[in-house]
Amino acid sequence: MSKVMVFDHPLIQHKLSILRDERTSVKEFRELISEIAELMCYEATRNLPLEEVQVKTPVGIATCHRIAGKKLAVVPILRAGLGMVDGMVAMMPNVKVGHVGLYRDPETLEPVKYYFKMPPDITERDVIVVDPMLATGGSAVAAVQFLKDEGVKNIKFMCIIGAPEGIAAMQKAHPDVDIFVAGQDEKLNEHGYIVPGLGDAGDRIFGTK
Ligand code: PRP
Ligand code: URA
Repeated sequence: MSKVMVFDHPLIQHKLSILRDERTSVKEFRELISEIAELMCYEATRNLPLEEVQVKTPVGIATCHRIAGKKLAVVPILRAGLGMVDGMVAMMPNVKVGHVGLYRDPETLEPVKYYFKMPPDITERDVIVVDPMLATGGSAVAAVQFLKDEGVKNIKFMCIIGAPEGIAAMQKAHPDVDIFVAGQDEKLNEHGYIVPGLGDAGDRIFGTK
């Protein structure tokens, strides 16, 4: 069974409270999504393996540690996942970025794929899939499956708000994929929106409503 890690750092929780507020402007919403992603990235990469290196300083030789092991890629689920990319890249400037385009059919709530573009060496990379919202889990489950079908082995999923239904769906479909979440909410409503959630993340990032 995959692990669910709730990032309850006070800075993340404070920013999340402003993000949820219906009065928060598009500009501020965008900035907050990016800042929360940056803080979550910091926590999510806590266990990256390190290797020892010797560095010549102006004064002597320092024994230091650098990140070892496989390289990383970030894969946002379009559209709303795009809002998290800048924050991730700010923490990991050399990371490569793949894109999965999915939208939820408003009637069936089933994910519909419209775009898939990965770095050519994606199978050699560890991947963090990002999307602010994990509602029914349909989009995240499908995005992770597309990556597995490509041959990606080590995947983690990062969202800002997760519903119990989505977390359970991910754990059932992908028990090998750990989930990072800033807020675990109560439930979904009859339209598949997270309650209390923050509304439609894509619309609030891009000002489309
Ligand atoms: C939202 C959100 C997730 C998905 C979550 O995207 O960004 O991708 O819904 O819902 P699920 O867990 O029930 O699949 P949406 O389909 O609204 O598309 P958008 O990002 O283009 O607005
Ligand atoms: N997608 C969103 O953007 N918000 C929700 O609450 C559910 C799915």
